[in-house]
Amino acid sequence: MSVILAIESSCDDTSVAICNNGKITANVIANQTIHQNYGGVIPELASRVHQQNIVPAVQQALINANVTKQDINAVAFTRGPGLLGSLLVGVSFAKSFALALNVPLISVNHMHAHILAHFIDDPKPSFPFLCLTVSGGHTQIVLVKDYFDMEIVGETLDDAAGEAFDKTAKLLNLPYPGGPLVDKHAKMGNPLAFKFAEPQIADLNFSFSGFKTSILYFIRKQEQQNPDFIAENLDDICASVQHSIVQILLNKLKKAAKQYNIKEIAIAGGVSANSGLRDGLQKTADELGWNIYIPAFQYCTDNAGMIAIAGYHKFLKEDFVGQDVSPMARMEF
Ligand code: KG4
Ligand code: ZN
Repeated sequence: MSVILAIESSCDDTSVAICNNGKITANVIANQTIHQNYGGVIPELASRVHQQNIVPAVQQALINANVTKQDINAVAFTRGPGLLGSLLVGVSFAKSFALALNVPLISVNHMHAHILAHFIDDPKPSFPFLCLTVSGGHTQIVLVKDYFDMEIVGETLDDAAGEAFDKTAKLLNLPYPGGPLVDKHAKMGNPLAFKFAEPQIADLNFSFSGFKTSILYFIRKQEQQNPDFIAENLDDICASVQHSIVQILLNKLKKAAKQYNIKEIAIAGGVSANSGLRDGLQKTADELGWNIYIPAFQYCTDNAGMIAIAGYHKFLKEDFVGQDVSPMARMEF
C-alpha cells in the first residue's frame, strides 16, 4: 500500500498530485497568469508565486484524493531541470514535509516524468518504445528501455519546439504562452498557404533557431507590401507554421522508428497537446502500423501527476534520497 504526494515547481506551474497504489487520485495545477503581462516567464516572480500557491495546492490535493497527511507514505518532488528559484520552493517544501511526516523523499527528473506520464492511464506503452518529448525547454527523441533506463537518441541543437511555437506567436502579437493560441488559429487556416523550409540537420537532431528567423524575415517582407499582412492572414500563417513544425518533428520520428525498428511510439511534453501534432501522428501511425501513445491533456503540460507516477515506480524500488538533496537547474538525463 502506498500514498505518494508529489510536487512539481520547475517552471511557472505549481502542481501537487497524489498517487494511491499506482493510481493518480489528485492532480492540482495552479497556473501563474502574471507572466502574460511580460511576454515570458520571469523567474523571480515565478518563485514568489510558487511560494504563495504551494500550501493551498497541497491542501486541495489532499481533499481531492480524500486522504489526510497521516496517510502519506512518501514525498516525491521535481529536482530538475528547471528554474533554480522555482525548484527551490518545491524542493524545500518537499524536504520539510517529509521531515515532519517522517517519510522517505523521492527525487524525480522532470524530463523522465514527462515520459512516465504514459504509465498513468491505459493503454500503456510496452518497452522498448520511442518517445518524442516536446516542451518549452526541450525537444528530444528518447529510446525508453525501462522505467528509468532511457537514452536520448536525438535532440535540439538550439531552440525547443515549444519555443518555436511561442516565438512565432510573439511575432504575430499573440500573448504568452502562444503555443496553444497558434494551435487555435491553425484550426481555421490553410496549412499549405505558406511554405517554410525544413532545416537540414544530421542524424536524429533538430534545430529551430534558423526556422524561427526565416519566419521573422518572411513576415517582415510581407508587411513591407501589406502592413496588415498579419491581421489579414493570421489563421493561414499559424496553420502553415504549425504544419511545418509538425512535419519537422514527424520526419525525425519516422527516421528514428526505422533506425531502431520500433513501432511503439509515444509523444510527451507541452507541445504534445498540439492538435496538428496529434492528428499528424495518428496519420503516420495508420500509414506505418505504429502503436501510438498520447497522454491526456492534463498530463501533457507540466503537472505533478507525472512526478507522482515516476515517484511511485521509484517507491517500489525503494529508491530514496536524503535530506541533503538540492535542486539542479541543469540535471543530467
Ligand atoms: O511541458 P511544458 O508545459 O513546460 C515545459 O517543461 O517547458 O511545455 C510548455 C510548452 C510551451 O512552449 C507551450 O506554448 C507549449 O508547450 N504548448 C503548445 C500547446 N500547448 C502547450 N504548443 C503548441 N500547441 C499547443 N496546443
Ligand atoms: Zn515540462
